[in-house]
Amino acid sequence: MSTHTPNQITLTKPDDMHLHVRNGEALKSVINHTARQFARAIIMPNLAPPITQVQQAQAYQQEILDALDDDKGFTALMTLYLTDNTSPRTIQQAKESGTIHALKLYPAGATTNSDAGVSNIKNIYATLESMQETGIPLLIHGEVTDPDIDIFDREKIFIDRVLEPLIKDFPELKIVLEHITTRDAVSFIQESPAHIVATITAHHLLINRNAIFRGGIHPHHYCLPVLKRESHRKALVKAATSGNPKFFLGTDSAPHAQHAKESACGCAGMYTAFNAMELYSEVFDNAGALDKLEDFASTFGATFYGLPKNQQQIRLSKQTWTVPEYLPYGSNMIVPFRAGQNCRWQLLHNHDS
Ligand code: NCD
Ligand code: ZN
Repeated sequence: MSTHTPNQITLTKPDDMHLHVRNGEALKSVINHTARQFARAIIMPNLAPPITQVQQAQAYQQEILDALDDDKGFTALMTLYLTDNTSPRTIQQAKESGTIHALKLYPAGATTNSDAGVSNIKNIYATLESMQETGIPLLIHGEVTDPDIDIFDREKIFIDRVLEPLIKDFPELKIVLEHITTRDAVSFIQESPAHIVATITAHHLLINRNAIFRGGIHPHHYCLPVLKRESHRKALVKAATSGNPKFFLGTDSAPHAQHAKESACGCAGMYTAFNAMELYSEVFDNAGALDKLEDFASTFGATFYGLPKNQQQIRLSKQTWTVPEYLPYGSNMIVPFRAGQNCRWQLLHNHDS
């Protein structure tokens, strides 16, 4: 159980159930931020080239382990990237490996490094059949890619056109609709069976689409799925703080170097790993729901993935601090979420329970 006073919370060390950490020098710059905040994380496979095979995922997991300052207490939960060619045999290998916790569906062209993604869901029906049988979850980037569809409608239309038929065809398949951004997605998840769940990011809980355009264009507030209007943000806060186990934490922290964001064609993704739990604490505090934070951050995701409860704890205190303007990112710099501005909660330290 978490304990909390108005000014301090102690909770089971949480899990980030949707995270991008890249590889090489970038990985070394970001992974320790996550390891400070989280005990485990579901690692996205959208590297270039993507992680499509078990052996590749195992090598990537080792690279992550090697990049940790201190490997005690952080576990990288690996995933594979689905392509049109992913075979049922790969699903068997994934299941037997013990390393692979899910497969990720990127509709081809939906987001960063998604070109090798699935061009038509029907191409992977045999593979999905095998996933349904083995019980390994399907993680979905839920946006249609049709350029004729308004970018703000892509999630809702994905639910109507792709997700609903998919669930009809695979009624037992475990599904995580990732980084939901709309009231439509919230209602859809609430009304679905228990094995169809969603992750919610800190940034979609904290800001709406005005943040992209306030007084000029703000590339650091551009991510996919793109921020939506305020009424959607409010629906997400309500879902996250409701105590419903179908909604749990996934930051979708997606680091890109400063120059790749501040560009004529800037990359999608916000870097929230540095201060993730501070950001979520603020959301739950604002909603008067700090007592619901531990389940959202540390329990519901682990239960869905069949993982044991973490033994470590973290402590957060209500004290204002200023987020750095920049952080090192390989040989470049990265601009963290809230750069140069204040956070009202601060992660103090980790300790064993
Ligand atoms: C992610 C990335 O950069 O890898 N970007 C993002 O805006 N969230 C990809 C993704 O999850 O869509
Ligand atoms: Zn992502």
